[in-house]
Amino acid sequence: MRVHVADHPLIAHKLTYLRDKRTDTPTFRRLADELVTLLAYEATREVRVRPFDIQTPVGPTTGIHLATPKPLVVPILRAGLGMLDGMMRMVPTAEVGFVGMVRNEETLEATTYANRLPEDLTGRQCYVLDPMLATGGTLTAAIRFLVELGADDITAITLLSAPEGIQRLQADLRDVDAPVTVVTGAIDERLNDKGYIVPGLGDAGDRLYG
Ligand code: PRP
Repeated sequence: MRVHVADHPLIAHKLTYLRDKRTDTPTFRRLADELVTLLAYEATREVRVRPFDIQTPVGPTTGIHLATPKPLVVPILRAGLGMLDGMMRMVPTAEVGFVGMVRNEETLEATTYANRLPEDLTGRQCYVLDPMLATGGTLTAAIRFLVELGADDITAITLLSAPEGIQRLQADLRDVDAPVTVVTGAIDERLNDKGYIVPGLGDAGDRLYG
C-alpha cells in the first residue's frame, strides 16, 4: 500500500481552520470541499486516460480524455458526502457508488448499513472518500467491498489520518492484489482512548451535519 501525504501550505492552512473548534458548520463544509479538490489533484495523478483527437482554431492535435470504464467515486456516508461535490468538480464524468458505515463508539467496530455499488467493478479505478482514517476499520471494510467486486486500483482520499489506521490498513490489506493508495492531508500524532484522532478535528460527521 502506498501512502501519500499531500504536504502543501494551502492544504495545511485550510486544515488549520478545519481543526479549529471555533470553525462553524458552513465554514467547515466549505473547507472540506476546498480541501478535497486539492487532494484530488494528487490522488488522480495516475487516473487512466486515452488519446483524444481535436482541432484547435489553428490545427489538429491530440489531447486526452478519461479512459472507459470511467472511475468510480465512493463517498462513505455520512461524512464522506462532504467530500463528494469537490471530487465531482474535478472528475465530473466519474460514476458514484455509495457505502454507508457507522462506527460503534464503544467497541470502535464499523458496521455497514448501506451498500449501493455497481455489481461489477472489473477493471475499474475507484476513489473512496472519507474525511477521517482513525482505527482504519471503516476504510478496510470499504476497500474490501470494492476488491470483492473486481476493482483493480483503489485510492482512498482522507483529510486526516492516524498512524494506527495507516498501519492497520497496511496489515489487513496485505492479501489484496490490487494497488491501494491513501492520499491524506496529514498524518496526526495518534488515537486517543475513544478512538479520536489527536489533535484531529473532532467528529467530522457531526461538524459537517450536526
Ligand atoms: C467516522 C469517520 C469515518 C470513521 C473513521 O464516521 O467519518 O468514517 O468514523 O473511523 P475508523 O477509521 O476508526 O473506522 P462515523 O462512524 O462517526 O460515521 P458518520 O460519518 O456517519 O459520522
